[in-house]
Amino acid sequence: MASPEEITPLVGQSNNGGQRRHWSNVNKKTMFVRWAVIFSLLAALSGGVWALQSLFHHAPPAKKTQPNFDSLRGYCAHIDAIQPSEYIKRQKKLAAGLPEESSAYVMEGGPTMLYYTNIKWELSERPFLVVLTKDSTYENGIKTKVVTPMFEATRAMEAIKSANLPEEIQPEVVQWIEHESPYEVTAEQALANISTVYIEPTTRSFIFDGISKVSSGKVEIASRKLQTLRMVKSSSEIDILRCANHATEEAIRQVRPFVQPGMTEADIANTMTHALTTAGLINTWVLALIDENAAFPHGEPGQTKKVGKDSTVLIDTGGEYLGYQSDTTRTFFLGNREDHNQTIVDAWYLVKQAQQSVIKNGHAGSSCAEIDLSARHVITRAGYGRYFTHRLGHGIGEEMHEEPYLNQGNTDLHLEPGMTFSVEPGIYVPHEFGIRLEDIVVVNEQGQLEVLTSGLADNPWTITADD
Ligand SMILES: *[C@@H]1O[C@H](CO)[C@@H](O)[C@H](O)[C@H]1NC(C)=O
Ligand SMILES: *[C@@H]1O[C@H](CO)[C@@H](O)[C@H](O)[C@H]1NC(C)=O
Repeated sequence: MASPEEITPLVGQSNNGGQRRHWSNVNKKTMFVRWAVIFSLLAALSGGVWALQSLFHHAPPAKKTQPNFDSLRGYCAHIDAIQPSEYIKRQKKLAAGLPEESSAYVMEGGPTMLYYTNIKWELSERPFLVVLTKDSTYENGIKTKVVTPMFEATRAMEAIKSANLPEEIQPEVVQWIEHESPYEVTAEQALANISTVYIEPTTRSFIFDGISKVSSGKVEIASRKLQTLRMVKSSSEIDILRCANHATEEAIRQVRPFVQPGMTEADIANTMTHALTTAGLINTWVLALIDENAAFPHGEPGQTKKVGKDSTVLIDTGGEYLGYQSDTTRTFFLGNREDHNQTIVDAWYLVKQAQQSVIKNGHAGSSCAEIDLSARHVITRAGYGRYFTHRLGHGIGEEMHEEPYLNQGNTDLHLEPGMTFSVEPGIYVPHEFGIRLEDIVVVNEQGQLEVLTSGLADNPWTITADD
């Protein structure tokens, strides 16, 4: 709280009375002295700071403290987005995949809706559906209908407009009013005379039930074959995935030299995010784990755990580019090569060997189970079988995790050219250490596995082959 004296204006507002003027003059003098003292103090202080600075002037500059990652800017700028004509190809593929003449495929907002129609829609309690009906009167073999709540019709039209679909695909809009049953409206206006209705498997059960009760045809969950048509990627999808994953791996390579003792997991995550966003990725995420924390495959970044001078650091990270995902993991060591714990060094090379074995031997026609087992075999033979606790990998595309899933149980799904998935063997010894290496691969036209990063990690210290 200021005293009344302090809040008295320096120049009196009233000219009444000499006493008042006198006190005002005294106040002026006091304030002048106060300011003079404050000024000299400030001057002395800045002089001291300057002196301190000059003292350290000849010390070597701190090593790479301000990463800017400028070389990552515009990394994928040369890559085209999915073109409107591609949606015709996708719908043709669906028309060929729908088994009966009179059948339809029904979906809610999400990756499958985006895949066939490029329509983005957030889920709410009110059904908003896309109904794709097999219809040979359309050039692409599919009639597209959008079922929307009436009060959302304007927004639905906007979503259809921003989908920028080709002339061949012009969705017809069906509206339902609040007091109507959306399912009855769908059955009458979008599913009349359809003998089999296939429901996208991620559709919520109340919608499945609603359609089942009113539909005149059979209603089934879409077969895996239908569901997984989008597992096989086109060359434009592969180009985007390749660039997004190259960018992610390159970003880890560039972050690596900045990882120094004393940094926390949160610090590493921040630097990594900076690198990914500079490269143009959106919706980025980072899992940075140090030493024994890396033994939790999906461990929470502890924020506070710090890098030590001989630490093992695991970075699992990715983001999105033009609607497609990236996902890469590198585990690396700090400190002198000679000093690192040999058990952990050996485990790193074992994980790399498992990855190499899969990439060399996997091919179109192999089952997902066989691919998983070929990596597992390498790790089990060395005695670490029980520490490789998760599946070998997952498909990747519009979704971070999608079919094909590479696990021992997936015996009836076989690789085909165009499938993209992660190869990510790992060894996790609880409370001791964790190692994972992850690269995305595509089954290429020759049926071989091609890595969609610039290459597997070379060694656990620099991760690149450069030194
Ligand atoms: C359904 O089939 C009947 C009989 O073939 C036909 O009259 C009717 O127009 C069809 N309805 C629709 C919506 O196609
Ligand atoms: C090396 O690491 C392993 C696994 O954490 C541990 O059991 C062993 O004691 C370590 N060796 C040394 C010399 O620290």
